[in-house]
Amino acid sequence: MTNQKPSDLTTAAGQPWADNQHSQTAGDRGPVLLQDYDLLEKLAHFDRERIPERVVHAKGAGAKGVFELENDMSQYTKADLFNGVGKQTPVILRFSQVAGEKGYPDTVRDVRGFALKFYTQAGNYDIVGNNTPVFFVNDPLKFPDFIHSQKRDPKTNRRTQNMQWDFWAHSPESLHQVTYLMGDRGLPASYRTMNGYGSHMFKWVNQDNQQFWVKYHFISDQGVKNMTAKAAKKAMVQNVDYLQDDLYDAIQKQNYPSWTLYVQIIPYEEGLHYRWDIFDVTKVVSHHDYPLIKVGKLTLNENPTNNFTDIEEAAMSPANLVPGIEVSPDKLLQGRLFSYKDAQRYRLGANFEDLPVNKPVVPVHNYERDGFMKADNQGDEVNYEPNSRRGPQEVPDAEIIPDQVQGTTGARPYHYQVDYTTQAGDLYRLMTPAEQDRLIATIRDGLGQVTLPGVKELEIKQFYGADPNYGTRVAEALGMDIEAILKS
Ligand code: HEM
Repeated sequence: MTNQKPSDLTTAAGQPWADNQHSQTAGDRGPVLLQDYDLLEKLAHFDRERIPERVVHAKGAGAKGVFELENDMSQYTKADLFNGVGKQTPVILRFSQVAGEKGYPDTVRDVRGFALKFYTQAGNYDIVGNNTPVFFVNDPLKFPDFIHSQKRDPKTNRRTQNMQWDFWAHSPESLHQVTYLMGDRGLPASYRTMNGYGSHMFKWVNQDNQQFWVKYHFISDQGVKNMTAKAAKKAMVQNVDYLQDDLYDAIQKQNYPSWTLYVQIIPYEEGLHYRWDIFDVTKVVSHHDYPLIKVGKLTLNENPTNNFTDIEEAAMSPANLVPGIEVSPDKLLQGRLFSYKDAQRYRLGANFEDLPVNKPVVPVHNYERDGFMKADNQGDEVNYEPNSRRGPQEVPDAEIIPDQVQGTTGARPYHYQVDYTTQAGDLYRLMTPAEQDRLIATIRDGLGQVTLPGVKELEIKQFYGADPNYGTRVAEALGMDIEAILKS
């Protein structure tokens, strides 16, 4: 509480507002008057308060912070934020659940989003990742169907195990990520205790135009901690906003969470011939082959001042890149380059980049103008190019470095190998016996509910392909005969 005099109540147009408790009526009991402009405006504004939620990752929480560079990366990238030890770049980070709606409980098993916006001196740079290093599908054409299978049944309006496992069982590329999701990482104990991954392969380019492939790993300085299914259920009953509140309260108490950013760097040519297709987001790249290199520290030290303007209006996009960082041919990433800003034009309007949370810290000069709710229309600057009026000039340094392409056009799968089992098996074998027990129990509880014929068998065959022990144990947990399944 401050002793400051409260401000005068005003309408949105700034007029003093006399009475905010009583509508104007004709007489004591009379009907409400049309002339009650304050009432009409208040109701009309209220009626328009909701905007569409994000089509995925609708439930989330975020905070502001800073990224400090600890290791100069200029030999690999000319990106401003990764050059000059000690450089600090302000950030906003939004964590999220994928499948549930905006009011959905935080502790339902799901992949968690880890979406960062860096306000760099070369414009905004976003890393829109998850708490797992791989993804369910590797072709953008499959993403809407995948999400439909995770959301609600069109008839019953329920989220169903039938839909989820039906999609996964018929999409063998999902096996690695399904193993992550059904494992302990599907239930993080808090947003502070999970890692974040850029997941895709990106390209870094240095001042001499040398190119490198790069993967991002944000490792939690709080350590990775997860919760059991029982604890998650309990938390859900007590507080649907469990993860959100934990983050907010920690920051309020100045217990600032931090992550150390590491990268894996792969020389350009070498990456093209690596034993796995490095552009297939269902795969990881071995840390043994390409060890983690420390880059810097990300710290969250400020809660949103206003959740709607700081977090709900935040528009993160994998297409927000800065010179020195480019895309890779990863097909899923390529699809994402279109989808995010398209969704944000729908969700927030054509001029969403004018909103304070999305506005870069550097000035914007270009030839785009007008549209709904335009706030910064670049004044009297010339609005066409070419021109003789000293309008904004192109920046040749920002040009992307070309990649070689070959072959013919066509709809085709990943060309390397379609081995979706080896890395899923590696993950299974990496788990402790107790982790494996929990994984099997989680799969039993989910897959066990499936009633669509053939789906369990198909999925179990995939688990078996990853590791015979994995498949056999799932079959046993479901009371099914593995030999009969393998013969079917
Ligand atoms: C949010 C599409 C794959 C992580 C979104 C949104 C869309 C979308 C439309 C909502 C954006 C908004 O309204 O602001 C897609 C498509 C994908 C894809 C089409 C594949 C083709 C992925 C992958 C990851 C990911 C592979 C992680 C590695 C996220 C996160 C958010 C998000 C973290 C929430 C961002 C925030 O907090 O504002 N996605 N997505 N998505 N996506 Fe994806």
